[in-house]
Amino acid sequence: MIKVTYIQPDGREATVKARPGDSVMQTALNNNVPGIIAECGGSMACATCHVYVAEAWQTQAGARKDGEEDMLDCAMSEMRDTSRLSCQIKLTEALDGLRVYLPEEQG
Ligand code: FES
Repeated sequence: MIKVTYIQPDGREATVKARPGDSVMQTALNNNVPGIIAECGGSMACATCHVYVAEAWQTQAGARKDGEEDMLDCAMSEMRDTSRLSCQIKLTEALDGLRVYLPEEQG
């Protein structure tokens, strides 16, 4: 079983179960986790699924996909080294326990 923890800007955490193959974005929507809008539905065209991946999970989460950085540049909240589009992180057992931080604003 894969579990993902979403941490809100105020520190509140929600840990939810994920299906393998779902994205971090889809998992948030499936579980009514606030803070992910996902306007474009996961086609890397909106940056409203911006998350900051916890430092300890950087390697497992993998590198940004082609074009992801350009989209993150348009994100409402500042882009950091740990920024990812959560629609581009597909969940596998290797990501069980993943922790992501939600930005202050999406848009
Ligand atoms: S949902 Fe639009 S870029 Fe991720």
